[in-house]
Formats: sequence, C-alpha cells, structure tokens
Amino acid sequence: MNCHTLLGNGAYYAPDLTKAWLDKGWISKDMREDMMGKFLMDPDKNARTFGSKRKMPNLAITEQEAKGTIAFLKWV
Ligand code: HEM
Repeated sequence: MNCHTLLGNGAYYAPDLTKAWLDKGWISKDMREDMMGKFLMDPDKNARTFGSKRKMPNLAITEQEAKGTIAFLKWV
C-alpha cells in the first residue's frame, strides 16, 4: 500500500498491480508465472528492464508465499 496500487488503493511509487498478471512484459503467458515468482523471491536478480530506476526491495518472500501472491494477482 505504500508503494503499489490495487484497484485504486495504495501509492504511486511502484507500478499499479491491478493488472500486473496481464502485463505482457513477462515475455509469454507460459513463462509469466515462473518469472514473476522468481522476481518476487529475489527482485534484484530477476527484475525485468522496465527502464525504471526504482527498485523493488527484497521482502524475503518464500516460494509458497510467491505462489499465493501470484494466485491473488490472477484473481484481481
Ligand atoms: C508483498 C508485497 C509486494 C508485492 C506482492 C509486489 C509485487 C510486485 C510485482 C508483481 C511487480 C511487477 C509489476 C508488473 O508486472 O508490472 C513489482 C514491481 C515493483 N515493486 Fe513491488 N511488490 C511488493 C512490495 C513492494 C514494496 C514495499 C515496494 C517499495 C518499497 C515495491 C516496489 C516495486 C518497484 C519499484 C517495482 C518496479 C521494479 C522495476 O522497475 O524493476 N514493491 N512488485
């Protein structure tokens, strides 16, 4: 909420996550789940090149938490 936005709630420091699951920047639909999971667990090493100088902090998200978060983003 301090960085991202979901359905209009949150902040504008980081990308709006409302449609993050549909973001074509994750190369292909087949690779998206894997790439997004790796990014959530270690954003420094797995960030895409957005052309943004802002960085997502490493929140020590576990594999199970990353899977759950991705399921939530798909639902959103
Ligand atoms: C559990 C909490 C969080 C989740 C689930 C999350 C999720 C994500 C996702 C899915 C993306 C990629 C967006 C896209 O596909 O368009 C992203 C990017 C980003 N996030 Fe987060 N985020 C979280 C917390 C944070 C926090 C606390 C910050 C700020 C301190 C932050 C800053 C950023 C930034 C700056 C980017 C863009 C990275 C870049 O341009 O390389 N995130 N986040």
